[in-house]
Amino acid sequence: MQIVSSLSDLRTARLSLEGKVGLVPTMGYLHEGHLSLVRQAKAENQHVIVTIFVNPTQFGPSEDLSKYPRDLERDLNLLRPLGVDVVWTPTAEIMYPPSYQTWVEVEALTKGLEGAMRPGHFKGVTTVVAKLFNATQPTKAYFGQKDAQQAAVIRRMVLDLNFPLEMVVCPTMREADGLAMSSRNKYLNEAERKAAPVLFRALSAAKEAYEAGERQVAALREKMMSMLTAEPLAQVQYVAFTDFDTLEEVELIQGKLLISLAVFFGKTRLIDNIVLG
Ligand code: PAJ
Repeated sequence: MQIVSSLSDLRTARLSLEGKVGLVPTMGYLHEGHLSLVRQAKAENQHVIVTIFVNPTQFGPSEDLSKYPRDLERDLNLLRPLGVDVVWTPTAEIMYPPSYQTWVEVEALTKGLEGAMRPGHFKGVTTVVAKLFNATQPTKAYFGQKDAQQAAVIRRMVLDLNFPLEMVVCPTMREADGLAMSSRNKYLNEAERKAAPVLFRALSAAKEAYEAGERQVAALREKMMSMLTAEPLAQVQYVAFTDFDTLEEVELIQGKLLISLAVFFGKTRLIDNIVLG
């Protein structure tokens, strides 16, 4: 496993890889969710590149950039047994030198959901992912359904900017009690950690009602909100019912539906989602 930081070392390492290359972009502090993407990339390509970069431009001024968990040694030890070829760990100075002034923005898809709550977030995500794509030249790139809007926005960018690669979106990995794996789960105290599976329980209850024939969003929302508000440690920021492709809000469910939510437990903000239909 080659571990490189500079762009020139990354280029040299990339040139040594022949055949299909799978890319897994991450911000590190890896968990089983990230590793599931790496395993799928390994199964579908001759080589795998993992990037670890806590991208400053996707964090808002009041967000957790400086506190974002980091442990490179631990991450590398998790990646070694998976047969990863190259780990690229650029610095902020490499990605954004002082003269930096070029940005990639996806328009309508970034207006709602996470985009509405975190202004500028997706501009940072699409810009860094475009740079990672250009630098690593992957055959396929792997993302998690956990960040549903991110996957939709990057898919749009790949189409709109003609990136010659295939997007693969992998299922959300969960703890045994249903909590979606996330680097941010580390911030939860014991009581909050115990309360957090209410997110998946509420999403599952909506799924159950949908499967029993319910098609009114109002009814699903009421069911979910009553479960979420019954948990005193959970502060709901939003529960959104959107068309899976356009991410526009719907009232009556007809096609494929994305239910997504953002909930605070203390200062920790967790997101999760489920797809119906
Ligand atoms: P990060 O939060 O580290 O996530 C890296 C990838 O792992 C993303 O595609 C994310 O959707 C996926 N992932 C996270 N938790 C998961 C889970 N429980 N199950 C399955 N996949 C999961 O997302 C980012 O980093 C950044 O925005 C990035 C794309 C790297 C750009 O900076």
